[in-house]
Order: sequence, then C-alpha cells, then structure tokens
Amino acid sequence: MKLGILSTAPRCYSTRRLVAAAKDRGFKVSVVNTLKCSIDLQSGKPDLYYKGKPLADYDAMIPRIGASVTYFGTAVVRQLEQMNVFVANSSGGISNSRDKLRSMQILSRHHIGMPKTTFVRDRADLIPSIERLGGAPVIIKLLEGTQGVGVILADTIKVAEAIIETLQTAKQNVLLQSFVAESKGRDVRAFVVGDRVIGAMRRVAQGDEFRSNVHRGGMVEAVELDEKFNDTAVRAAQIMGLQVAGVDMLEGNDGPQVMEVNSSPGLEGIERATGQDIAGAIIDYCAAHVDFPEMDIRQRLTVSRGYGVCELVIPEGSHFIGKTIADAAFTDLDINILTLYRGKSVIPNPKATRELEPGDRLLCFGKRESMKSLVPAKTRKQREPKIKKLDPSKIEDALTTPNYS
Ligand SMILES: Nc1ncnc2c1ncn2[C@@H]1O[C@H](COP(=O)(O)OP(=O)(O)O)[C@@H](O)[C@H]1O
Ligand SMILES: [Mg+2]
Repeated sequence: MKLGILSTAPRCYSTRRLVAAAKDRGFKVSVVNTLKCSIDLQSGKPDLYYKGKPLADYDAMIPRIGASVTYFGTAVVRQLEQMNVFVANSSGGISNSRDKLRSMQILSRHHIGMPKTTFVRDRADLIPSIERLGGAPVIIKLLEGTQGVGVILADTIKVAEAIIETLQTAKQNVLLQSFVAESKGRDVRAFVVGDRVIGAMRRVAQGDEFRSNVHRGGMVEAVELDEKFNDTAVRAAQIMGLQVAGVDMLEGNDGPQVMEVNSSPGLEGIERATGQDIAGAIIDYCAAHVDFPEMDIRQRLTVSRGYGVCELVIPEGSHFIGKTIADAAFTDLDINILTLYRGKSVIPNPKATRELEPGDRLLCFGKRESMKSLVPAKTRKQREPKIKKLDPSKIEDALTTPNYS
C-alpha cells in the first residue's frame, strides 16, 4: 500500500507518528503538503498536481486538515474522492465537523446528548435566547474556534450581551450554549477509528480555568469509558461522516453531552495518556478499507433521472403496520429500503421478513413518483408544479419597500 499523509505540518507529532507507524508496517508513505496541490478539472478526468507534476498514485490518503486551510484542504480531499483514492475522512465529514453550528445542527436530530445551543443574529432576540438556555452563566463560542480560543464563559446576562456585541461588531458569528457546570472543568475525548473507540482520556482544567483543552493547560489521564459514552462517541462520528475522529463530551448529569467532533484529532495527548498505538490503529484501518472507499451516496444515487433517496415514515394507523417488508411490496413499486430507523436503533438492509411498526422511518432509494405516492396527502406537496406566467405588476411590487411580518 502506498499511503499519503495530507498535512502542512510534516514535523508535528501526529504526522511523524503516522509516518512511523506506516513504515513499521512495511508500507510506502510520504507527507503530501496540502497547499502544494493543484486541482485540475476536466470532463471525466479529475486530477491533482503536486508541486507542478501529476500526483503519484496513492492507494490511501489520511487528511490532516488544519482549521486555517479548511476550504482548500477539503477541496483537495474532495478531488481525491473523485479520483477514487481512499481517504480516511471524507471532505463532507471534515466540513461538517469544522463549523460548530453545522455540526450541532446535524447531531441534534439524532438523539445525541448535547448542551442546549442557540444561534442568534438579532440583538433583540439575545436576552430571550439566553433565557431559553436557562439564563446565566452562559457559554459563548466562535463558530470556528479551536484549542479553547474563542470559548468564553459569561457570568451574567449583561456581560454576555457586551461580549456578543463586541464579537458581532468584529463580524464574528457566535453560538450561545448552556454551561454544563456539573462537568466541573472536565471533559472526555474519545478517539474513534471506524466503528469503535480505540482510546479515551479525561482532560481536567487547572486552577479556575473552565476550559480543559491541553493548550489551556488541561491535564490528561486515561479513562475507561462506559457503554453510553462509547456508543455516543461512535454514533456522533458516524453521523458526521468521519472514520477517524476525536469526540469531545462533557460529563453531564444526564450522561454524555457532545461538544464537538474533531476530524484531525491530535495524537500526542491520547498516545501519552493511554500508552496505545493510536497512529498504528489509524494505519491498520486504512489498510483494511483501502479497497472499499466510502462514497457520497446522495451524489451517486441521485444521478438517475426520476430516482432519488428519501425517508418514509410509517404513521400510527398506516395500513403498512404489521405487514412484513415483503408483503408491503416495496420492490414492486421500484423502491429499495436501505435502512430502517426504529427509535434509537438503526437496522441496515432490513430483511424482507421484518414487520413494520408505527413510527418506523425507512430510508429508501427508488422511483420518486412511487415514493411520493406513499406520503400521506396532508404532508404531500403538490406534484411537479407547472411553471406559470408572471404578471409584470408582481415585479414592480417586489421592487417597492419590503414588508417583514
Ligand atoms: N457548554 C459547556 N459547558 C461547560 N464547559 C464547556 C462547554 N463548552 C465548552 N466547554 C469547555 O471549553 C473547552 C473548549 O470548548 P470546545 O467547544 O471544545 O472548543 P474548542 O474547539 O476551542 O476546543 C471544552 O473542552 C470544555 O472544557
Ligand atoms: Mg475542543
């Protein structure tokens, strides 16, 4: 296997360890400087150039994309995906994880524990939002901060208002989050590779600091996570679309509260704390999956005209309840069920003999018209609306003062 580490920091601990672990296993490995890649686009032939020459053939690439180069870095990873090179983390997963709002939005629909969070733009909504979070103290976060920079604890609503106003004046978008006080300056980092946690550490803030980041002086110790924490970490990484991830969780009264999922988690702290060969586990994962790259299913599956992916919900009282998937005859309608979601459980490729229950959600690929016909009329939007002629007076109306409701 020929492996590349996509990084701008060849001398940092994580890069060195990945290179060493690959060599230990007898693989060819080199560090590819993300910023020296050029992306060439041509119909049917996506290509990458490196330092002016075509990039050598790599079997797998491990992206280590720093926060300051997210846009270009994810573009390079996306290009590798188009070229069918196995990447340890997908460009979509990296983009999802980079923005704290985006990642919380994605996680929130999947019953993953998280601190209550809100995103406000209008000053008039600031105090009501803080009140919805349970009042002060409240955490204020910059959307793309790392290493604890850009995470502030405001003790009172007045202080919070002043900070947010200052940040907004500086054109910074901020998240507000309830302060999980019971976690007491501690958090847990679970290192996920594939579908398991391969090591975990607890970070404890020092003195009166509430942020436990190692860069803020946090001390680390190895920790054995219980099933709930392990399960939350793996699910959070999978939902984000990451195979290699550092999932940070607070220890809340009601269990794990995910704060963020890192797509290029550092290896130094976790290897020191756990004494485990984390770099080796990442290389082994790549070696095991190199022939089977992840792909963006939506991008691939929706290319056939009239076909698409959709989620069908089986409501209470539906005539499908009690029927098996075979009896429901989805295949006759040209619909394939990819996954069945039942409460918190996920059943991939459900068997034809499985009976449907109220509340089941079916992720399907199939003929759009057939899938639409299964959605109850109440929630169904009009089919393929016809394009109508526009009355020119409507254009005039739109050019006059807008009305907000
Ligand atoms: N809602 C919260 N309640 C309590 N502590 C928090 C909260 N959010 C963050 N922290 C503390 O601040 C640290 C940094 O926050 P995090 O969201 O991970 O930002 P960064 O990306 O800068 O690491 C966390 O490791 C944790 O110790
Ligand atoms: Mg963090």
